[in-house]
Amino acid sequence: MGTVKGGDTGTGNGSAGTLAGKAVVVTGAGRGLGEAFAVHAAQAGAAVVVNDIDAELADRTAAGIRAHGGRAVASGHNVADAEQAQAIVDTCVGEFGGIDGLVNNAGLNYEALPWQDDPARVRELVEVNVLGVIYTGMAAANAMIAQDTGGSIVNISSGASLGQRKLGAYSASKGAVASLTYSWALDMEEAGIRVNGVCPLAHTRMVWKSERSLRNCPPDRTPSRIAPLVLYLLGDDSRGITGQLVRCNGPQLHIVGHPHLKAPILERAVWDTESVRGAFEEVFSAHLEPYGLEKRVPPRLRKWTDGSAATPLRSA
Ligand SMILES: NC(=O)c1ccc[n+]([C@@H]2O[C@H](COP(=O)([O-])OP(=O)(O)OC[C@H]3O[C@@H](n4cnc5c(N)ncnc54)[C@H](O)[C@@H]3O)[C@@H](O)[C@H]2O)c1
Repeated sequence: MGTVKGGDTGTGNGSAGTLAGKAVVVTGAGRGLGEAFAVHAAQAGAAVVVNDIDAELADRTAAGIRAHGGRAVASGHNVADAEQAQAIVDTCVGEFGGIDGLVNNAGLNYEALPWQDDPARVRELVEVNVLGVIYTGMAAANAMIAQDTGGSIVNISSGASLGQRKLGAYSASKGAVASLTYSWALDMEEAGIRVNGVCPLAHTRMVWKSERSLRNCPPDRTPSRIAPLVLYLLGDDSRGITGQLVRCNGPQLHIVGHPHLKAPILERAVWDTESVRGAFEEVFSAHLEPYGLEKRVPPRLRKWTDGSAATPLRSA
């Protein structure tokens, strides 16, 4: 896109890469997935702003990129603060002359049953995982529109957004990221900015903290295995692809279906409680959705799915 200037001239092994000439921000890039995204983006030729609220880690990642001939600057800003989120994007524009890509990766996670959760912890999680993504994305879109160069935003969501036990606040925050992706893809298409989401699975600190996640994530699922997907979405080869949520867990790569208005859509002038009851008894009972990532069948339907349908029907 030709917006990059400043920094070292030697871009090392990335000078001819798929992101050559692009300036990219990766948030939460001091460790884990973000670090892999930043390192791989630099190897593909991008100039990278390595953001992490843990400034020492951001410095370490940026220094590692530079040591290998890449271009990187560190930012210790907090994405959950609108002014600091703006400062991350300003750093990119100031250091590299523009911004072509943003990976909204910074995130928090913890497990808690809903009745044992702590309001302060919920607030902190929502501020980072939802507001942080919105603030940084707003700043990036603003800069991209001012440049009139278009761009690519990759929001890191999670398969947990489909619903997972003990992850209510986290899954809600990642569902918000998915909805934001669909809305922003609509808003930004005319400006040439593509917005996609990625649901990763990789061995990181986030996984080490949870016994269940550790069981579901073999050690060979390294963050580097997710980076090619993010690089593809950042680069020009994915032109024409926007509004998509893509999941990669290492070996598997697939599109995540969007929520949709499900047929049959019943119509009547007014729905009173009696007609709603009738709709459920006569129509919707055959259309209820299994819920959560584990696809749990609603109790009312289990008599048909638990292998005992041959026995006389009882009310659930
Ligand atoms: N690891 C997985 O399997 C997995 C699965 C689904 C989604 N994700 C998502 O991927 C992203 C990266 O997760 P990870 O597994 O690498 O976690 P991680 O904890 O290893 O890294 C997250 C990084 O974000 C930084 N960060 C936290 N709050 C910040 C803030 N306010 N401002 C700037 N930086 C901040 C942290 O300091 C940390 O370095 C997260 O959004 C996470 O929800 C991860």
